[in-house]
Amino acid sequence: MNKTILCIGAGYVGGPTMAIMADNCPDYKVIVVDKNEARIKAWQSDTLPIYEPGLDEVVKRARGRNLFFSTDIFGGIEEADIIFVSVNTPTKTFGAGAGKAADLQYWEKTARDIIEHSSGDKIVVEKSTLPVRTAAAMQRILQSNTKGLNFEVISNPEFMAEGTAVTDLQHPDRVLIGSMNTPGGQAALQRMLDIYLHWVPREKIKTTNIWSSELSKLVSNAMLAQRISSVNSISALCEKTDANILEVSAAMGLDSRIGSKFLRASIGFGGSCFKKDILNLVYLSEFYGLPEVAAYWEQVVLINDYQERRFVAKICNKMFNTIAGKKIAVFGFAFKADTGDTRESPAIYVCKMLLEERARLAIHDPKALENAMLDLTGETGDITYCADPYEAVKGAHCIAVLTDWKDFLKYDFRKIYELMEKPAFIFDGRNLLDHQAMFDIGFNVYPLGQPALSHLK
Ligand code: UDX
Ligand code: UDX
Repeated sequence: MNKTILCIGAGYVGGPTMAIMADNCPDYKVIVVDKNEARIKAWQSDTLPIYEPGLDEVVKRARGRNLFFSTDIFGGIEEADIIFVSVNTPTKTFGAGAGKAADLQYWEKTARDIIEHSSGDKIVVEKSTLPVRTAAAMQRILQSNTKGLNFEVISNPEFMAEGTAVTDLQHPDRVLIGSMNTPGGQAALQRMLDIYLHWVPREKIKTTNIWSSELSKLVSNAMLAQRISSVNSISALCEKTDANILEVSAAMGLDSRIGSKFLRASIGFGGSCFKKDILNLVYLSEFYGLPEVAAYWEQVVLINDYQERRFVAKICNKMFNTIAGKKIAVFGFAFKADTGDTRESPAIYVCKMLLEERARLAIHDPKALENAMLDLTGETGDITYCADPYEAVKGAHCIAVLTDWKDFLKYDFRKIYELMEKPAFIFDGRNLLDHQAMFDIGFNVYPLGQPALSHLK
């Protein structure tokens, strides 16, 4: 049996997923390819292209043994008979479905590359998140080959979250494998089981029909995001009623039917997946003639935008209705803690709105400053990027906490208070800091969905 696995796309999903697979399956050779030469060079180096706790050790153990990174996509296709495809599927920016539908051009091109460079049968695994029924289109394209080759399409979506990728991949809640109900489909499913059973208990591997698998991935992300938007909408109501969102979330979460996770109020969810996948779900619902379903899910994204706008409006309002010319220390730019990733980070939108109000920004983040610079390229206004938090707060009127980095808790807030303009404000968009302690130091503190602690009369 050919025991070579290929993964096309060495991004946040493909890289860690394959590293864990190679680590757990020493009897397989795993090749990860990408068209981006700089990315592959980084995967081959001591400085990996993404920051993910614990990943360095896994990569170091497997790399050169049975894990290889390369730009030779065509050679990889030729060599492997199981091909995971983890290329990006961004939201379409043009033509029909622009702004909502998934742009599948990289996927289709990859399918065509696979046909062109294959001389034997292959299993093609959808690792990227794709619209339901993409596998049907893929199967049609692949079967149109004139070489008499057979291709089986499998759906095996990835549920890992950034920042916890290594643990999520090593101990997944579930592995989902969707396959066609044909002899070929079932044989391909067996090959997939052979791989995952190296480290995942059988009861955690869920096998479904291929359409359920594709749709489950989209809906899982939509459900998670929906919980955040639900809580965020209630955080606004809490601020009007002196209720406390932390207490409300905790009280709700104690109901075992609701559960306690993903009920943290925030300035909004970010990341490469949530918004893209919900918009895709909205598009699919419209496409299949279900406008009510589409409107329901679209509201999750609209509340997210509202929450970001609401946060900026509060900063302006509390700082005497103007922030023009005032320095704001932005603490955190990554879309969540423990990652340098800033894709769709609420910080991007919040910072742009603050710049529109002519605030001066000093942005501080432990891992995401380079990406922040790229995201704000071309913005007009006074922006500085500070690796040192004390530099960022010097002469600042307020701190806006935009990412839940635990590192911030270790900072010397007495010293920070001394360095700032007075009155000094903290707007905690993640409910991260010890608000009473901050208030006692002298700050006017505006948490999210909780009563403010203000010295101003
Ligand atoms: C991506 C998708 O965004 C997500 O929906 C899906 O579930 C998994 O793949 P991610 O790994 O975070 O997630 O994306 P990204 O970091 O952009 O990686 C994709 C990689 O594919 C890039 O490195 C890109 O260079 C590569 N790629 C893309 C190719 O090698 N060939 C292509 O034709 C297109
Ligand atoms: C998500 C899904 O969790 C994962 O299963 C899927 O494979 C990819 O998309 P990720 O985007 O990496 O993972 O991170 P996640 O932990 O889900 O956080 C997404 C966003 O929601 C972040 O901006 C985070 O700060 C925010 N969030 C999360 C909240 O605002 N409140 C919460 O309670 C939880």
